[in-house]
Amino acid sequence: MDAFEYRHGELYCEDVPLREIARTAGTPTFVYSRATLEGHFDRLQSAFAPIDPLICYSVKSCGNLSVLRTLAARGAGMDVVSIGELHRALEAGVDAKRCVYAGVGKRDDEIIAAIEAGIGLLNVESESEFENIARIAAALRTVVRCALRINPDVDPKTHRYTSTGKKETKFGVDLERARRFFQLYGRDEYAKLEGLHLHIGSPIYTVEPYVEALTKTCALIEELAIDGIDIRSIDLGGGFGADYESAQSPSAQQYADAILPLTVGLKARGVQFFLEPGRSIAANAGVLLLSVLYTKHSGEKRFAICDAGMNALLRPSHYGSFHFTWPVHPAEEMVPPIRSSTLTMPGLIAQDIVGPLCESGDFLAVDRALPPLARGDLLAVFTAGAYGMSMASRYNSSPLPAEVLVSGARVELIRRRETVDDLLEHERDVTVLI
Ligand code: LLP
Repeated sequence: MDAFEYRHGELYCEDVPLREIARTAGTPTFVYSRATLEGHFDRLQSAFAPIDPLICYSVKSCGNLSVLRTLAARGAGMDVVSIGELHRALEAGVDAKRCVYAGVGKRDDEIIAAIEAGIGLLNVESESEFENIARIAAALRTVVRCALRINPDVDPKTHRYTSTGKKETKFGVDLERARRFFQLYGRDEYAKLEGLHLHIGSPIYTVEPYVEALTKTCALIEELAIDGIDIRSIDLGGGFGADYESAQSPSAQQYADAILPLTVGLKARGVQFFLEPGRSIAANAGVLLLSVLYTKHSGEKRFAICDAGMNALLRPSHYGSFHFTWPVHPAEEMVPPIRSSTLTMPGLIAQDIVGPLCESGDFLAVDRALPPLARGDLLAVFTAGAYGMSMASRYNSSPLPAEVLVSGARVELIRRRETVDDLLEHERDVTVLI
């Protein structure tokens, strides 16, 4: 699952005790394991080897340059959704040709920059967006490969905020309109519409939604072939699950076993495949390391107040997500055998793990059975590598956490902790505009 484990009663990342990381880097800090990032990438690559996909890591899940470089060195391309993310990918040394660019609201300057950089594929989400891309590509006299994001009306059975493949979402074009879309725009001289893009939601813990979506996509490809349109690439999207609880998610191989049989005909046509996983690579590769500042009672409730909360990890507050949270150095008999929302052992006490912000919604766990906590304890919030730092905010003028990357016994600071001075950097110089 990952390289975070209790050894001799304390939590290690690979060969380094988290206590040592807290001592040197301070808290709050996101700690990533290189071996876990690489292992997850390699497993996806080998599971899907029969279709030889370009695996474009989803930068939005965890975009630190060192993480991107680690994955690029393994052969990853990048899935980007903004010029900021493209900039990160390029800075990490990834060729723009190995990047796919999605997103419902690409600005003109972003489209221009992506085309000029030589983007591998622009994923198009609407008729008006395509017309804009075609206009810009013609003005630049540059050919750009495009894929239409289709919305196969499949329920991924995940949180409604991250469900993207049902008919009534803002993403993509429904199947009925897709055929017409290709008839209208499929022969543009500069914006070469030649692929299909799918991303139905995240996380998706069963294989059926993928099977259903791909089955509908194959039917569309047949219809398009009748119209004389040849689909050259399919991007199957991301959305594979992660282990927020032990063994919660299907493995890369289980996803592949369900999806691959549907790709046989497409492969025979010479279709090129893309995948855009983020969470399944990064989530279990990171923990958020925190310190308990204070403990207190309020009525019947007990609180452990930590040095970060929703500002560092928004997911519990925003989606009600479960993140297994445990002391880094628990009492000997309280080393957790598994990560589970229903873990029981003698001596656990229900507590809320909260942050320092001025919001009642600033929590990481509510009524969670945990060992008794005290000021100064270190806590690890697990499965925080994806959509942790990338969704962190500076609310309440909280400087962003540090990020470190562990490789065996080596620990690198890959993003220094922000200072209060950093917070003011963009406000000191005032420019008169009008
Ligand atoms: N491709 C597209 C077009 C996407 O929109 C996403 C995620 C991905 C790939 C990567 O999905 P993944 O493999 O990481 O599941 N903030 C939420 C997740 C939002 C996902 C948005 N799109 C969370 O914390 O759960």
